[in-house]
Amino acid sequence: MTDSPYKQLVYASTATIGRDLSHPETQRELMKIVSHSRRSNPKRGIVGVLHFGQGKFLQILEGQPETVDALFDAIREDPRNKDIEVLRDEARDELRFAAWNMKFLTLEDEMAAFLKRHGLSAFDPYQLNDRMLSDLVELLASGQDEGAPATA
Ligand SMILES: Cc1cc2nc3c(=O)[nH]c(=O)nc-3n(C[C@H](O)[C@H](O)[C@H](O)COP(=O)(O)O)c2cc1C
Repeated sequence: MTDSPYKQLVYASTATIGRDLSHPETQRELMKIVSHSRRSNPKRGIVGVLHFGQGKFLQILEGQPETVDALFDAIREDPRNKDIEVLRDEARDELRFAAWNMKFLTLEDEMAAFLKRHGLSAFDPYQLNDRMLSDLVELLASGQDEGAPATA
């Protein structure tokens, strides 16, 4: 079937805005990304989740394929991240993240359990196999939105 109305794109990237959430400048930059996304994504019909951990991003973008691709092109060019790698790019009949313009999660506790479950020593989204990625997508879908990162 090639006529699904949506796609889900999952990518990993490395933040260039620092790796420590307790750092005010990193928090500020994250807040800018999240608040811009929350304003802009509804206009494009895009939903999803942004995870930040250990200096890495993992983002899930869902929406109409051409709209998701256009946004992803912009993100690829965004100097606040680098080393972008697509982990999943699939047609979808439904939006898994329909409730969130851009859910933001750091998942400190859940991530520790996730790493333990899969025998990993640190969060490295580039190293996830398909089973780990599916588990992580479910974790991100069920996790409580953390709003925007707090300003110090
Ligand atoms: C990791 C990361 C995730 C981003 N996610 C989004 C997003 O979901 N929506 C969005 O509009 N911009 C997002 N951005 C910002 C875009 O790269 C870009 O700055 C923005 O789309 C330009 O906005 P404009 O074309 O609406 O002016 C993200 C940037 C980074 C670094």
